[in-house]
Amino acid sequence: MQLRNSAQRYGAIPKLLHWLTVALVVVAWALGTFGDDLPRGVGHSAGPLLHISTGLAIIALCVIRITWRLADPPPSPEKKLLRDGVELTGKVTHVALYGLLAATPIVGVLLQFAHGDALPVFGFSESLHPGSGIRVSQDRSKGCTRCSRTC
Ligand code: HEM
Repeated sequence: MQLRNSAQRYGAIPKLLHWLTVALVVVAWALGTFGDDLPRGVGHSAGPLLHISTGLAIIALCVIRITWRLADPPPSPEKKLLRDGVELTGKVTHVALYGLLAATPIVGVLLQFAHGDALPVFGFSESLHPGSGIRVSQDRSKGCTRCSRTC
């Protein structure tokens, strides 16, 4: 199996990084959209942690993928088949997708801080709130900040 890129084909590692990113985006989106509907208890409280962890993993993967791309250039583009305008639109869309891929979890992190919450880093640490370094306590009796339920 060819791990690195060749002049004609993507290697197994860049392909793996690509599909891992796709899977994590689907999971992050699903948890962001349907997380509030998870049953109360472990699922309901683990949902936000998993949502944030998948988002942080996407940021990490972006860094790994950029580094990999610099060290192992992708195959040369295929011969131009479409008109210049269409080729340009394709390139702009490609770059915009990468921009959104990085911007979405970064905005999520900023939102987390804007809520006054610390950032749980894969459940190991929760001390990255830029203000206090600790999670700002919430009055749980009024329901959590993510939904109308009393968790
Ligand atoms: C690519 C990764 C991510 C995707 C696709 C994603 C997607 C979503 C979606 C669809 C929602 C629901 C928005 C709504 O219902 O209005 C949401 C909410 C949220 N996400 Fe993410 N998210 C990602 C990464 C992150 C990260 C890394 C964090 C870091 C803390 C984060 C924090 C939040 C927070 C705090 C909310 C609740 C927003 C609110 O209701 O005020 N997300 N996300």
